[in-house]
Amino acid sequence: MSFPKDFVWGAAAASFQIEGAVAEDGRAPSIWDHHTRWMPEKFYEGNHGDTACDHYHRMDEDVDLMRGIGLKAYRFSIAWPRVMPEGTGAVNPNGLAFYDRLVDALLAAGVAPWATIYHWDLPVDLHYRGGWLNPDLPKYFEDYTKAVVDKLSDRVRHWMTLNEPQCFIGFGLQTGDHAPFLKLPVRDCLRAAHHALLAHGRAVRVLRAGSKTPAVVGWAPVGVVTMPANDSPADIEAARAAMFGIREPSLWSNTWFSDPVVFGKYPEDGLRVFGAAAPEQNPEEMALISQPLDFYGANIYTGQTFRAGADGAPEKVGGEDGPALSLYHWKMHPDCLYWGPRFLYERYNLPVVITENGMAGCDWVARDGAVHDAHRIDFTARHLAELRRACADGVDVRGYFHWSLMDNFEWAQGYKMRFGLVHVDFATLARTPKQSASWYRDVIRSNGSVL
Ligand code: GCO
Repeated sequence: MSFPKDFVWGAAAASFQIEGAVAEDGRAPSIWDHHTRWMPEKFYEGNHGDTACDHYHRMDEDVDLMRGIGLKAYRFSIAWPRVMPEGTGAVNPNGLAFYDRLVDALLAAGVAPWATIYHWDLPVDLHYRGGWLNPDLPKYFEDYTKAVVDKLSDRVRHWMTLNEPQCFIGFGLQTGDHAPFLKLPVRDCLRAAHHALLAHGRAVRVLRAGSKTPAVVGWAPVGVVTMPANDSPADIEAARAAMFGIREPSLWSNTWFSDPVVFGKYPEDGLRVFGAAAPEQNPEEMALISQPLDFYGANIYTGQTFRAGADGAPEKVGGEDGPALSLYHWKMHPDCLYWGPRFLYERYNLPVVITENGMAGCDWVARDGAVHDAHRIDFTARHLAELRRACADGVDVRGYFHWSLMDNFEWAQGYKMRFGLVHVDFATLARTPKQSASWYRDVIRSNGSVL
């Protein structure tokens, strides 16, 4: 059993989490700058992203690290407030210049650039104009995307539109856990989500029409994953029903976002649960949302086990003894990387790329100068073995991006959560590749056969 030939081995990061240099070269604040400044109590120890990993100034060193690991691809995101500081209107060439240099450096290092257009750093001016509730946001997003595509698409072929709308709408607007820390009525959240979907559709359209090389386009929702308690058909169907069912009015859903994107319609059960709060489905808008995609990106970290209950309905299996936990207290369930891609592939029939997977650990530089992150090596090996099993069973998986290239600003958790293959000392900004980085290099070199 091995991974497909040409499998894309990568690592991922996102602009606000690593770049720093928040006021340089014409960049304006995003909602994350704004809230770290004005609501520091929402962040672990008042951490903020003003410097983060200082990637903006250390980009060459970071690309060298990627070359050292032998990454075939690097997933990064572009900061809207660098490119279009007010969110709409004037393009800032100095902001775009950074990504221009990054892309050139990646190509020179033999690392394919995979660009995410939106990984949550909304320009604060747009927040003051209603953020994702503003019906003009999709149009502004289209203009921003166009500026990026004009500049980079001669060299960037792989694109993802939105990262995890479940989080930036669900956590940002519904539960108040992420910037802008709102707790809006579900009707407002669904409206904002609808605008995000329209923004996605417009961006895909721009990529198809305006890319200078044939664009390979996907997106990166968070794969809310379930696994069957055992391989019986009844449990498999129960897990599938749980993964693709909507039973409560929450935005933490696969189908509420992905059914419109792939099938051009909201799921029936969601429409029943949300009732009058659901947005109208106007055929033109639904057609715009459902532009053809080349791959389905899935960010998968964990999953929940289900079995068929007495009436056949999905029943959550809990109460395991001492599950393995990451620093986040996310449970380790390696088979999420088997069932997640398999269920997504069976439903949406698109090639799958794992756009994020990884774990937060207690990592430090030991007295011998090394970072002994055996937990991350074991975690990743177990997950990749499950992913390989999915490939062997016919799931069309095209790539795997480890989250993350380096330790970084983990949103409300600040610098507490270390997800990197490379350790970052946030006082000195020194980078130290962890043992997982050299292990991952061997995995990549052998196309996974060392697993
Ligand atoms: C997300 C984001 C990443 C996170 C990572 C770890 O999934 O929340 O895409 O920015 O840092 O997932 O939580």
